Amino acid sequence: MSTPLAGILVRPATAADAEALIAHVLAMIEEAPQCLPMGPGEFTMTVEEERAFLEKTAASDNCLYLVAEVNGVIVGALNFTGGKRAALRHAATLGVSVRPAWQGAVGTALLTEAIRRAKTSGVLRRLDLLVYADNLRAIRLYERHGFEREGVRKKAVFRNGEFIDNIEMAMIW
Ligand SMILES: CC(C)(COP(=O)(O)OP(=O)(O)OC[C@H]1O[C@@H](n2cnc3c(N)ncnc32)[C@H](O)[C@@H]1OP(=O)(O)O)[C@@H](O)C(=O)NCCC(=O)NCCS
Repeated sequence: MSTPLAGILVRPATAADAEALIAHVLAMIEEAPQCLPMGPGEFTMTVEEERAFLEKTAASDNCLYLVAEVNGVIVGALNFTGGKRAALRHAATLGVSVRPAWQGAVGTALLTEAIRRAKTSGVLRRLDLLVYADNLRAIRLYERHGFEREGVRKKAVFRNGEFIDNIEMAMIW
């Protein structure tokens, strides 16, 4: 198991992080394109839209946006968004990203805090996600935290000229 890196601060994002989070997503698209369903030019959120999204997320009881900072710089982010309708409010879908230069414990720090907050939300009973079948690092992280495989979406993703599978994973409590 990784030892948590000293100096990682995990905290909820605020509207003031909007610009830095857009920069984080753009950096991830450039640095880890093989893991993410977004290519250059495909992330088009403006600072205003990102700010509004962060405010809405912070005010919600089944959504969360966390950032991981090292020396005041955002190096990782995690968000989950819960359903809006009464029948779906207990389930949220999660995404996580850590800049390659800082991978090696930041993912663990973010996921540990996200699960703690989800389980104490009083609303959520399920977290789910999609992960590329060959993203073994991410799958290992999720399994270590209690996510189980629920299914496979075959050829759901087109990447570098080939179709690859997406794995559905979830944890329930
Ligand atoms: C997935 C991601 C968030 C994980 O963050 P991280 O900081 O690397 O995570 P951690 O180091 O805390 O945990 C990763 C685990 O995978 C293990 N691992 C690393 N490389 C691996 C590999 N090639 N195969 C299997 N396991 C691997 C690590 O040893 C660690 O497990 P351990 O703590 O039991 O030793 C990060 O790698 C990332 O952002 N990747 C690019 C974007 C992405 O894939 N996002 C998820 C989309 S579903």
